[in-house]
Amino acid sequence: MQVFNVKNNVYYIGVSDRGLRVFDIMMETKHGTTYNSYLIKEEGGVTIIDGVKAGFTDKWLDNIRSLVDIKDIKYLVVQHTEPDHSGAIPALLALNPNIEVYGSFMAMANLKEINNAPFISNVIKPKQELKLSERQSLFFYPVPNVHWPDTIITHDPVNAIAFTCDFLGQHIAPQQLLYSKEPNKKIIEEEIKLYYDAIMAPFKSDVLKSVATLKSLDVSMVLNSHGYILDTKEAVDWAINKYIKWSTVNKSEKLTITVVFASAYGYTRSMSEAVISELEKASALVHVFEVPRDDLATIVARIEESDALLVASPTFVGDGIKPVYDVLNSLNPVMCFGKYFSAFGSYGWSGEAVRNYMNRASELRFKKVDEGFKVRLKPSEKELEDTRLYARNFIMKIKAELNK
Ligand SMILES: Cc1cc2nc3c(=O)[nH]c(=O)nc-3n(C[C@H](O)[C@H](O)[C@H](O)COP(=O)(O)O)c2cc1C
Ligand SMILES: [Fe+2]
Ligand SMILES: [Fe+2]
Repeated sequence: MQVFNVKNNVYYIGVSDRGLRVFDIMMETKHGTTYNSYLIKEEGGVTIIDGVKAGFTDKWLDNIRSLVDIKDIKYLVVQHTEPDHSGAIPALLALNPNIEVYGSFMAMANLKEINNAPFISNVIKPKQELKLSERQSLFFYPVPNVHWPDTIITHDPVNAIAFTCDFLGQHIAPQQLLYSKEPNKKIIEEEIKLYYDAIMAPFKSDVLKSVATLKSLDVSMVLNSHGYILDTKEAVDWAINKYIKWSTVNKSEKLTITVVFASAYGYTRSMSEAVISELEKASALVHVFEVPRDDLATIVARIEESDALLVASPTFVGDGIKPVYDVLNSLNPVMCFGKYFSAFGSYGWSGEAVRNYMNRASELRFKKVDEGFKVRLKPSEKELEDTRLYARNFIMKIKAELNK
């Protein structure tokens, strides 16, 4: 990517990583990505906002040198220390150790562990002003957990620009970076959603707080750190509205429970039916899924809207079964924290599934309502009655805690 003037004294100094096909181990990046970095060329106070990934250090430094002398850089704002934005920073600080670095407490602590050498560290306070000159200042706004605890947004009111790092980014490495000039908006729409799902989705309530922060500022341009720059007010509003839509979880007023079950011979199925009917009798809204038949993404979305999750399956080969683990492994502790959990099922001789699902629930930070419940082989009438009792106790305990 070539250096270009974004607006007035603000320049793009980022790099393209067109060949990238996997980001953060798990995310497919079929269009590559960019690591966007910016330079504000103000007389007496050259400022750099965010770095790039190690491996692109030379190109980044060349981009900077094409605009200013490295010794004239006064400030570096580190909005987020994930190495795709901080990897090249040690090289810059080695060339100019007088650069004053600004970032959140967490960002400065992280950078210490990445730079592994002393640097001039300034921990920002919310809304803190950094004066670049008589006419221009930057203001810092912490937006923790979108998507690391260290993250901040930087506002430049003179230019009505918000620097938002990963927030509102997309993994694309286009020839030119302005949203307004891209005729094929569909690709941006697809990639901003994939990026949101992979990076932001676990932090929906924090995303909504960050949106509120951004909306409170005078912003007609969002300079993010991946993909297209949102260079008009319309583009900014378009992206913000998408983030609001995707982050709004439709929670019912009713106590909502998702039941995910699997059954080879119908034993766990009959237990599930008994449980579901008890939950419904207690006026809960119950979402029922059978795995592996039902769609995983839909199951995860319903779990996110629910107050509790019940999983049920037989034990196979000394463990729970893959389709249930696929569901549990698609969740994360951030979204499960505060939700209730239990597991049940039929087994033949050793019956490890229930215990193992309960253990996984601890890792996911669910609140375990009980120890789970299991029946050997085909549930008898008495065992079905015990299953109903298990379900009634489950919902009673949750209702008592939630007052629903
Ligand atoms: C392939 C296979 C492996 C099994 N391995 C175990 C096991 O390791 N421990 C156990 O307690 N039961 C084991 N069982 C028995 C089932 O858990 C038991 O038949 C259960 O009642 C089936 O319930 P369902 O009708 O809901 O599928 C196994 C069953 C199958 C088919
Ligand atoms: Fe990141
Ligand atoms: Fe990033």
